[in-house]
Amino acid sequence: MKSKSKVKKALIPAAGLGTRFLPATKTVPKELLPIVDTPTIQYIVQEVVDSGIETVVLITGKGKAAIEDHFDLYSELEEKLESEGKTDLLDKLREASNMIRAVSIRQRNPRGLGHAVLCAKEVIGDEPFVILLGDDLVDSDVPCTKQMIDVYEKHEKSVVALMEVEDEDVPKFGIGSGEKIADRVYSLNQMVEKPSLEEAPSNLAFVGRYILNPEIFEILEKTDPGKGGEIQLTDAMAQLMKTQGFLGYKFEGQRYDAGDKFGFIQANIAYAMKRPDIAPRLKEYMKMLVAS
Ligand code: G1P
Repeated sequence: MKSKSKVKKALIPAAGLGTRFLPATKTVPKELLPIVDTPTIQYIVQEVVDSGIETVVLITGKGKAAIEDHFDLYSELEEKLESEGKTDLLDKLREASNMIRAVSIRQRNPRGLGHAVLCAKEVIGDEPFVILLGDDLVDSDVPCTKQMIDVYEKHEKSVVALMEVEDEDVPKFGIGSGEKIADRVYSLNQMVEKPSLEEAPSNLAFVGRYILNPEIFEILEKTDPGKGGEIQLTDAMAQLMKTQGFLGYKFEGQRYDAGDKFGFIQANIAYAMKRPDIAPRLKEYMKMLVAS
């Protein structure tokens, strides 16, 4: 098994149709729906940048061009704000375009997460890479991706983020099980995509952060459609686990499911509570709601 190369590239699949947020997502990509005032995907890209990665590969699809625009310059508005001396707004506007240079690839035919990842084969090349799923926001002191990179570099094996979930939520996730080999680290020996509670080997769910060795691509090329008729990343990971081993890492931090209506609202409240310009009024408002 080859290894020792550094994790330098991040892959963000963003081709999903976002039907859970219709009608908002009829014309607006779900990745641009804001948590407070910032699109969900910008938090994800910030995590990438804060983890020391400079190249972001976006997998997009039909109707997603606004995501590319979001990370590009917007000269006309910049000039206008500059001439009006609105420097605060100018800084806000430039936040996203200053973050990274994104490479984007179109997934022309959405056939599942595994297929989306496979679309990046040539751009990623022969090196380990991180995948971040945009629905999973993780609020933590050390960015979740950075925590995972540390585990990858120590053990030199692919890693998936783990979180314990309630029984009723088990069928919504990829589930893994294995032997605990260090604090928060498991050597996995089973992986199943969205099992029924009876089939599930544990309550340890995959959260949308993965560091994968590049051999995953050869496996994905041969992976047949699985659960839901889609090419599942979990199925390919299970194959990689057999040849190279695979770790699970219980990350430190709070995860929000921004792809779910309740999770999205929770994230909005939690992130708003961290904003000094909003938190005091929001706290008062929530107190009032509880009291009534
Ligand atoms: C995907 C993966 C699943 C994982 C989940 C994490 O499912 O297929 O294994 O647990 O992301 O958010 P999705 O939620 O895209 O259906």
